[in-house]
This record gives sequence, C-alpha cells and structure tokens, in this order.
Amino acid sequence: MSWELSTASGRYVVDLAADDLGPVLQDWGRGEPQGWEPEPLASFLTLPDRLPLEYSALGTRHVRGAELVVEQPDGALGARLSWPAEQVAFSDDGRVSTFTAGAVDTSGRVAVTLVVEASREHDVVTKHVTVTNTGDGLLFLPRAFSPAWNLPVAGPVDVQVLAGHWSREFQPLVATLPAGELSIGSRQGITSHDYSPVVAVTSSGTTDGSAWGVALAWCGSWRLLVDVPPFRSRTRVAAGVDDESCVVTLEPGASYTTPVTLGVHAPDGVDGLRRRWHDYERDVLARTVGLEHRPIVYNSWYATKFDVRLDQQLALADRAAALGVEAFVVDDGWFSGRDDDRGGLGDWWPDERKFPDGLDPLVSGVIARGMRFGIWVEPEAVNPRSRLYEAHPDWVYRAGERPLVTVRNQYVLDFGRREVVDWAKGWLRELLSDERITYLKWDMNRPVSDGGRPGDLHGREWSIQHAEGYLEVMRMLRDEFPHVTVEACSGGGGRIDLSVLAVSDVVWPSDETGPRDRLAIQHGFLSAYAPHVMSSWVTDEPDRLDTEPVSLEFRFLVAMAGVLGIGADLGAWSPAELARGAGLVGRYREIRETVHTGRVETHGTPADSVYAVEYGGKDQTVLLVFGRPGRPDTVTLRPRTLVPGARYCVEGREVAAEDLVEGMPVAFTLADDADLVVLERVG
Ligand code: GLA
Repeated sequence: MSWELSTASGRYVVDLAADDLGPVLQDWGRGEPQGWEPEPLASFLTLPDRLPLEYSALGTRHVRGAELVVEQPDGALGARLSWPAEQVAFSDDGRVSTFTAGAVDTSGRVAVTLVVEASREHDVVTKHVTVTNTGDGLLFLPRAFSPAWNLPVAGPVDVQVLAGHWSREFQPLVATLPAGELSIGSRQGITSHDYSPVVAVTSSGTTDGSAWGVALAWCGSWRLLVDVPPFRSRTRVAAGVDDESCVVTLEPGASYTTPVTLGVHAPDGVDGLRRRWHDYERDVLARTVGLEHRPIVYNSWYATKFDVRLDQQLALADRAAALGVEAFVVDDGWFSGRDDDRGGLGDWWPDERKFPDGLDPLVSGVIARGMRFGIWVEPEAVNPRSRLYEAHPDWVYRAGERPLVTVRNQYVLDFGRREVVDWAKGWLRELLSDERITYLKWDMNRPVSDGGRPGDLHGREWSIQHAEGYLEVMRMLRDEFPHVTVEACSGGGGRIDLSVLAVSDVVWPSDETGPRDRLAIQHGFLSAYAPHVMSSWVTDEPDRLDTEPVSLEFRFLVAMAGVLGIGADLGAWSPAELARGAGLVGRYREIRETVHTGRVETHGTPADSVYAVEYGGKDQTVLLVFGRPGRPDTVTLRPRTLVPGARYCVEGREVAAEDLVEGMPVAFTLADDADLVVLERVG
C-alpha cells in the first residue's frame, strides 16, 4: 500500500517499510514510478540505515545521520521508533493531500507525528514533525530536525547554495560532492547573510535534467545537511533548527513542532526550480501580490542617515513626490536619543529635539504631497544607552555569568520572554494607532550572541523562542493592521527565508545598492525568491566589487527588476536627472505587474558582457538588459516566456511568438549600458 500526494505537475509517493520501520519515499517526480528497495550490500548496515526513511531517530538508524536525537531520563541517547500502520492517515480533497503517520518509541516516552502535504496548485511538498514527551520525566532533544528528503540522485551531485556576507548576499556557489556531507547554516539566531536555507541539487554537470530543491522555512539558527553516501543511489537532505546552539527540553506531556521543510522537483533543471519556488511564494506565501503592498518607496536612509529633521525630510518628500513615489519612508534616526548608532534603540517615541511637535507635521506633510507614510523600527534591539535598558536590564539575553557582548553598540532583547514580546506589541500598536502610518520597515542589525536565560533550562531553546517571538509579532501586525505594508530587513538580507516571506510583503535583500554588485545579488536571490518580494532602490552609492561605471538608466533598471524604490539624495540630483528619473518611474508603472507576477528567466550572468532578466506575463514580456563596454554592437536575445501562438509587437512590427523564439531573435542596439525591451502582446 502506498499513498500518492499530487502536485501541480508531479507526485510525491510515500510507502510504509515492513516491520513498522516507517514511511519511506517511493517516488518523487512525474515519470515512471521509481519504486524503492533497501540499498543493496547490507554489510555493516542495519536495515533502517538502508531505507529512504522520511524521518529517523538515532537509535532507529544507527550509522547514517538521523534527524532526531533524544536524551532519555536515564541518560541514554536515542529512541527506537516504531510506526504502526494503524497510525497512518491520508486525506485528499481534490486539491490538497495530506499524509500523516505516528511513531512511538519502544520506551513509551517519545511519540512522533509526521505530516507530509502537497497541493495540486503548485509543486512544493511540505513536511514537519511533532515530537511529544509521553513519559513522566524530562526529555532533552539535542537535535530536533525537520523531516528529511531522499533525492533519487547519486553522487557526484552539484549542490547550489546561496552564500555571502553582509553586503554580498545570495551569491550562487556550486559544491560538487562525489561523496561526503555538506553543512550550511546559521548560529546567529537569525537566518544570516552567510547562507540562505535553500539548496538546489542535480546530478553533477547537468543543468537541464531533473533538479531538486529543498528549503527550510525558519528564521532562527538553522542547519541544512546534504549527505551523499559513497557509491549509493540516493542523496539525503535534512534541515532543521541548529543542533549546536539549541537543546529542546520537553516536560512530560509537552510537544515540540519543527519548522516546515519544503521540497520541490523540477524535471527541467534549476530554471524549473526557480519558477516553482516563485509560484509557491506568490500563490501561497504572499497575502497578495497586488500593488497595495508594494508601493514605489522613497527611503531617506542613504540621503540623511541619522540626521533626520522635519524640513530636510519634507524637502526630500517634495522631490520624491515629483518623481512619482507612492510611499515616503523615514528610516533610522527619528526616535528618542538616536543621533548615531550608540543610543536610542528601545525608546520608540519621536525625538523631542528633532520633532518637538511629534511626528504629525512630517506625517501630514508626506500625506499632503500625495504619498503614504512609512517608518523604520528595530524592535528586537536595545542600546545600553537607552531608557529601556535602564528600566529593564534583565530583558536582554544572558548566558549564565558571561559578560554581555555588543555588536553595533546594541544588545538583543530576549523575545523568548512573554513580557518582552508583549512590550513590543504594545508600542507597535501605539505607533500604528496613527492610521496614516501604512508602511513599516522592520530591521534587526546584529546576530544574537550568548543567547539564554540564567537558571532556565528552556533558555537553551532561545534560538527557537526568538524566532517564534519575532514571527508572533509580525503576525500580529498582519492581523491587526492589514493596511500596513511590512518590509523585512536585517542589515540587508540577514533574515530572508520562507518563514519571513509568509509574514512580510517585501524584503530588503542587501545593504549593497551599488548597481552592478546589487545586480549580482539579485541574480542569486531570484534563483529561489520571487521578484514581488524583492525591494530594490536607486541610490547614489558606488559599487565596491564590480566598479565598471554605469548610467542612471542602469541604476533604475536594476531596481525595476523587483519592487522599485528610490534611496538617493534627491536634493543633489539635477533637474535633468529628476526628469529622467520621473520618466523611468513612469515606465516602471507600465511593466510592474509583469515584473511582480510574470515567469522569470535569466540570460547569462551579471558578469557577462550582456545579461538580461526576462519576465513573461499574459500580455507582455519584459526584458531588462544590462551590458558592459566591449559588448557586441547588436545584442540578440531569444525570449523564453512568450505565449505560444500569440503575436507580439516588436519595434512597431507584429511578429508571431514562434518566429521570435525559433527564428529571428529579438535584436536591438544596446546604445546605453542598459535597456528595457517590452514585447507587448497584440493577439
Ligand atoms: C540596516 C538596514 C539599512 C538601514 C540601517 C539603519 O543596515 O539594512 O537599510 O535601515 O540599518 O540603521
């Protein structure tokens, strides 16, 4: 007996191994059923070590990695899980199918429930488990990963990761593993700039054959392991809450539910993965892809830094409004005692010296100029120099007696404490009680160090509690203030993953806004994350790495690749630049629906002499083309997103889609270093 979960274009089939050894993957994809057998060559392996188990515990599997490690009350490590057929349930309502299985440990102290879910509306399969203490003593879980994925692909495999650091996030890197284990993750209490919790796996050297994507929807510390056992037929990917910085304590009767892990199969390679991730983020995670939550923003951070004043902000607002901006966002520096990064965090009321009459004159001024008003906050942080820290020095993380560590002169508030989460909700509710504030940028500018709480065993779960506290407040914003657009940020792209996409509208991928460096970041970002969440601003900042000079058009086209914003010092722009900018904002309005909802294809990489990002919608195909000196005079591109059988207007001529794709490609002169090519559908 097996259970088939149907996705939009494939299936995920689960079977139950004999002797109650548990659910195994039978088939994942859309070709002929692959079936499953225990790995041959049993010497030195127990049977569970040879099975493609959906979830395993140390003590059930023995020599291959396991997702669950239980410390029993007698100190023994491990659990022997048994999955009786009576505890399997399956439902399929024609849209969503759900497979559930339950396991018990032979000791009777541990129960596990596995849930696997798929929908015919997309190709992403999701899984999680709940672990329950069914005994009468304390259980500790030094590792409590989410369920694993058994990819039917043998080594050598190529694993694409998105890696980087502050200001250089989402660089696609490929590790080829003939055998061995690849480990990526974060111990920062946030997702981190270093690695994104998503991988793409293919048989090495192939890019257009089958590809598998695995992601973890988690914004606390995490780990993702890709295990390629030597000369075997499957690759196992497991991910979950980081097991080095976290031990879960379960009181009798208590449960822990893991973050959701997501898997997707694409028969058409990594490009197919990108499309499937985008579809899922747009159709399932986003509350809407409508324009109400992706306005064209002006953000004053790069122009004025901490020196925020009414007159100067309103002068910027004048110019922003003339450019066609839809929301004006005041960044860091508006609240009490915030003259630089050494003070103020925690004291979330307007600075009386900068705003003697409160924020009202600024809010009214922005609204009078026809824009929405937005504001920056960093609720999880506190400066030692603040009233909040004076009043509540016990609200920050402390691991035993270790002295506190500042990063950017700030500590992290312990979002595992109810009173801290309630405090954050309280002042955010008060701030947003002014209904004219309709945009919030939520930042987090340091990693958590020394997480914990003296004398509290549950303090060892701080990285879980912190993420849960953050997500709880973000959900409160969404539920109670549905008109407020929320931009998630963490010193740029320090906290971006599918759990954050589920509670925010847009994310800020990087503090790097130098256009060529930004383009490279966005290229990687788009391989897993969709353009409707990709906030991107035109600034005056230089590039740090790829310093080839660019035009203003180039800067705009980079930012138009997602949700356009402006962050430049508009006071310093010439009338010609302002007019050009207004023209490009107008052009963006004509293409943004296609950019936010169309199918994305990339042509080459940003390092090439010509690189393009293509967005294919129902009525339009948009090409953003970027060039370098030395590129050919005539650039030719074959669009990949045209609707078959449709006719398009290209430079005044009407052409059939097939002629553009198979016959004559779109050829044009890239006069400047960047160009916007729009193929309008005419029939
Ligand atoms: C972080 C953000 C920036 C800006 C500053 C303000 O670095 O990523 O966009 O908001 O903080 O301090």
